[in-house]
Amino acid sequence: MKSKAAIAFEMGAPLRIEEIDVAPPQAGEVLIEVKAAGLCHSDLHAIDGHWNFNSGFPGLMGHEGAGVVVEVGPGVTRVKLGDHVVPFIPECGVCACCRSGKTNNCEASFIDSGPTSRFSLGGRSIHPFLGLGLFSQFAVVREFTLVPVRRDAPFDRLFYFGCGATTGLSSALFKAEVQPGSSVIVFGLGGIGLNVVQGARFAGAKTIIAVDINPAREAIARQMGATDFVNPRTVDGDLVGHLNAMTGGGADYTFEAIGNVELMRQAFDTAHFAYGTCTIIGIAPDADLLALPPTALITGRRLQGAAMGGARGLEHIPQLVDLMMDGKLDIDSLITAHLPVEEINEGYAMQKRGEGIRSYVTF
Ligand code: CU
Repeated sequence: MKSKAAIAFEMGAPLRIEEIDVAPPQAGEVLIEVKAAGLCHSDLHAIDGHWNFNSGFPGLMGHEGAGVVVEVGPGVTRVKLGDHVVPFIPECGVCACCRSGKTNNCEASFIDSGPTSRFSLGGRSIHPFLGLGLFSQFAVVREFTLVPVRRDAPFDRLFYFGCGATTGLSSALFKAEVQPGSSVIVFGLGGIGLNVVQGARFAGAKTIIAVDINPAREAIARQMGATDFVNPRTVDGDLVGHLNAMTGGGADYTFEAIGNVELMRQAFDTAHFAYGTCTIIGIAPDADLLALPPTALITGRRLQGAAMGGARGLEHIPQLVDLMMDGKLDIDSLITAHLPVEEINEGYAMQKRGEGIRSYVTF
């Protein structure tokens, strides 16, 4: 079948809208109609070559979306026609990571999706980013990437659970396991960091310090539950000292949600020396190194990372969607622009300029 799609033909180039061919789903595969696809920064990292994704160009980006099952290949059992689904990290259920409960690192997510791509243009294969490729109205994905979700949740909110919202919320709730009454510092208030703030608030944190150089983020951070906002550019002297003074010597939980090693070091240094936990969420360039004095760990600080916030999609995404539908999470305020797919490059330009929080496209 034909499908309207946004294609990355080469590194750094703007996406081009094309009418591509989508082959029918094979065994274990599912054809979905993508109803909304979010513009997550990771697509940009891949397009710009900062993140060496394994499938290459021409690439079909888009890994954050929601849609409806329109056709299933032979042997598919996880979903059926008409199901509403959020594609997420695969959960094959049989690899070592899945069996140990770390489904966010399912080994199937590292399989090169190139040879099995169902997307092509003029006979040339197009590689789906992360095995998904949701910047296409119709997409064939592997069954085990799909999380079925309740049908009354709107697609123009659901898509966000395919990456940003789930990653931020899960980092606070399921990875760091923020405790009631605790103190939290979040570095970087993009579409993920703001969800960390919101997750910490939902978990009952007492102090939530939101840190960003963009003063426009203060209002939304407070709306998400931040009790304090710190702009590093307006702090007199040393930011780490300033934050440690605010938390009485270091926070219980700190998070880095940008992917900058300098900020990671600050997040580490502002976690309490004896019992603080620093969680790294942002994806730094492959070549970067994070330097730390080992004695800072000996004292008891913990440093951890969380791909997709450590979320187990099948288990956690429906829970988080329920919280949104019950009005306990504010997803609406974080979704700031809706664009036709033809304007997808403008959507990414807005993101680079720091305008808005999360935008999404429809076809
Ligand atoms: Cu993402």
